[in-house]
Amino acid sequence: MPAHRFTSQGPLNGRIRVPGDKSISHRSIMFGALAVGETRVTGMLEGEDVMATAAAMRAMGASITREDDGTWSIHGMGVGGLLQPEAPLDMGNSGTSTRLLMGLIASHAISATFTGDASLSKRPMGRVIDPLSLMGASFEASEGGTLPLTIQGAYPAVPITYRLPVASAQVKSAVLLAGLNTPGVTTVIEPVPTRDHSERMLRGFGAQIEVGEEDGANGPERVIRIQGPADLKPCDIDVPGDPSSAAFFIVAALITPGSDLVIENVGLNPTRTGLIAVLRQMGGQIEELNAREVGGEPVADLRVRHSNLTGIVVDPAIAPAMIDEFPVLFVAAALAQGTTTTSGLDELRVKESDRLSVMAAALELAGARVEEREDGLVIEGTGGAPLPGTSANPVATHLDHRIAMSMAVAGLASKNGVEVDDTAPIQTSFPNFMTLLAEACA
Ligand code: S3P
Repeated sequence: MPAHRFTSQGPLNGRIRVPGDKSISHRSIMFGALAVGETRVTGMLEGEDVMATAAAMRAMGASITREDDGTWSIHGMGVGGLLQPEAPLDMGNSGTSTRLLMGLIASHAISATFTGDASLSKRPMGRVIDPLSLMGASFEASEGGTLPLTIQGAYPAVPITYRLPVASAQVKSAVLLAGLNTPGVTTVIEPVPTRDHSERMLRGFGAQIEVGEEDGANGPERVIRIQGPADLKPCDIDVPGDPSSAAFFIVAALITPGSDLVIENVGLNPTRTGLIAVLRQMGGQIEELNAREVGGEPVADLRVRHSNLTGIVVDPAIAPAMIDEFPVLFVAAALAQGTTTTSGLDELRVKESDRLSVMAAALELAGARVEEREDGLVIEGTGGAPLPGTSANPVATHLDHRIAMSMAVAGLASKNGVEVDDTAPIQTSFPNFMTLLAEACA
């Protein structure tokens, strides 16, 4: 458990590049492993979560190798070709690996046992067990629908029409991936749009997938239909930088006087850019330079300058487009002028940690004024003055990478520094976070 004290380092300047998008990296391995032929991937995130996906797909028959120049080569077995893994699949900390792979296995005639770390073993899997059971898969889960869990897939599975009860790209993707090997049309209805990387990438791999909008009881809904069994063709994929990783540097530059930082090659899929919109509303100077398209995703370089932020009431409707960015938004709010109010964030309680209570405790420990409500935090900012920082006790990260990195950013804007109890979880999504931070501050 390496603890670390993050202290004020001066402005963030120059140009940096954050690692590849986690969501796209997971999917490039899974879809490559289901295509016959070679898929080549550059810009892959080589964090622990994505490596858990790679290990699982290898255990089910794919050949996945990294070349010396960092390109990944994936040879798949075709949709329907997954092999029975011989040992339990260890998912580590990764909810995305677990839920998406459950979807893939659900429509293959194989069984698999999923295990994970203490954080993942507390997270709810009922949200994917429910629709995948309707398709014919069966499950033996631990109490409360958690890991360890064994799934027995069904072949042929039954196509379903499923309206998502929670706004979750993981649940949507699990059902669509099960649909790949299910004869007929599998339909997912999304009352609230979530990240659409599965849809974009499956189309790129040649799946017959249609995305439309239809009137629902409470307004327009996205309707996604996938035709199975699908025949996936291999692809070349260039993974853009992860906006959820860029988020820590965006906020760090905004709250650190004198900063003027360019973050290159950041993915700006509109289902992921909520944080940028909210920070701009708070007065953050974030410019998009050199806008372009990389691998079917909008990308730009972001120039971020120190800004005097003002507290706002955050519209809960934007939450799905920044679901992983709330911990670091709370840090920005703690340094803003006035009050920031967030609501509608119940989902944050079932992430790698309960991000509402863990961030409230962490920010209070660092001297911020925070009120925890059932579905959000209310934060009274310092108006730009540094936070006192932590003294005797370190911040508890609860195996949550985003808590560790958010509080690292808070440390940059503190008098005494912020001590984080465990930086190891950062390896799940952002292996070079510490060196990049040192580089930007140098
Ligand atoms: C992800 C979806 C989101 C997000 C996670 C990655 C994905 O989870 O929090 O980090 O790649 O599909 P939910 O679907 O649980 O909101």
